[in-house]
Amino acid sequence: MSVTQIPLPFLYTVNHLGPDYLRRALAGDVRTGLTSTPKWLPPKWFYDAAGSELFTEITRLPEYYPTRRELAILREHAAEIAELSGSETLVELGSGTSEKTVLLLDALAAAGTLKTYSPVDVDATTLDAAAHRIALAYPGLAIWAVCADFERHLSRLPRVGKRLVAFLGGTVGNLDHDARASFLEELRATLSPGDGLLLGADLVKDTGRLVAAYDDSAGVTAAFNRNVLNVMNRELGADFTPQAFDHVALYDGKLHRIEMRLRASRPMRVHFRELGMAVSFKAGEEMRTEISTKFYRYRLEGELIRTGFALSRWYTDPAQDFALVLAFVPEKRRHDGGQAGEPRRPRRGGRGKASGPAAPPEAV
Ligand SMILES: C[S@@+](CC[C@H](N)C(=O)[O-])C[C@H]1O[C@@H](n2cnc3c(N)ncnc32)[C@H](O)[C@@H]1O
Repeated sequence: MSVTQIPLPFLYTVNHLGPDYLRRALAGDVRTGLTSTPKWLPPKWFYDAAGSELFTEITRLPEYYPTRRELAILREHAAEIAELSGSETLVELGSGTSEKTVLLLDALAAAGTLKTYSPVDVDATTLDAAAHRIALAYPGLAIWAVCADFERHLSRLPRVGKRLVAFLGGTVGNLDHDARASFLEELRATLSPGDGLLLGADLVKDTGRLVAAYDDSAGVTAAFNRNVLNVMNRELGADFTPQAFDHVALYDGKLHRIEMRLRASRPMRVHFRELGMAVSFKAGEEMRTEISTKFYRYRLEGELIRTGFALSRWYTDPAQDFALVLAFVPEKRRHDGGQAGEPRRPRRGGRGKASGPAAPPEAV
């Protein structure tokens, strides 16, 4: 780990990724994922500086509703979230440009509890830029910018005072069921009683709208998808021809998830100079590059309860497109078997506790 104090009074960057970490981790994923049938890669490899810029562009597209919906929910409920959490430290996983975060920072500052903000991201360039912007906008706020992989380094998150961990943007949906269970368990284990989790999740909805959000007419998501090929070319000396792969986005209604894929438009043999290996693609063969799970309320709440979180609030937008779940690590057990302290199982319905989409028939 290296810690650097940047010449702004309260800004520190912590890097848990050694100089060669990303290349080695990518190499491991390529060896596993691109020798599997079907081929796959985890989505974190989209996010070099160019990929993060493309993602920011995606968030402004007319088809991409999640960012606007999540912003609207935060505008409406950030004050209550801050009040309920009473946190001194806001840790944000997969923070990217931290654009929506200012609503939480303002609310926690207004509540008088905020002391530290700790954005955590695998993309060092975007993380540094966001941390500088926040440091300039919030003089006196301590900022620990942590460059880390939230699938591997959760135990190394800053532990300063009462914490609220925000995981926004629906990024939790990029983890499949098992990876999500491990992630939530590991996160829960690193938190202390009274610490909170604010989780942003995209909800199940009309398939046409879901697919359009990942296959925009301007082709920005296609460029974002192909960026993973540029990353492998640069980091592993691969010789992918990005334009020879077509962008594919489809919705798997059984697994409730969007899958982004890259489809080879012709037979190809791709060499990885740094790995001394080559991979063949048949014409039409697809490589999965991202999953984005869409949730029903009962499923997501069930996953949190099973991990040992106590649910506090379920916030959604009027169209019920997106949800923010607020949950806490329970303080201690009550005699009636429930959890003591602030977080309680919410009643369904009501303002700020609106119901999510109905459970599908098989779940009732
Ligand atoms: C979908 S974007 C969301 C960005 C921002 N939170 C938002 O809501 O707009 C996902 C972010 O998570 C980061 N990320 C993806 N996988 C990661 C990982 N394993 N560890 C740390 N950051 C990761 C990416 O670099 C990117 O900034």
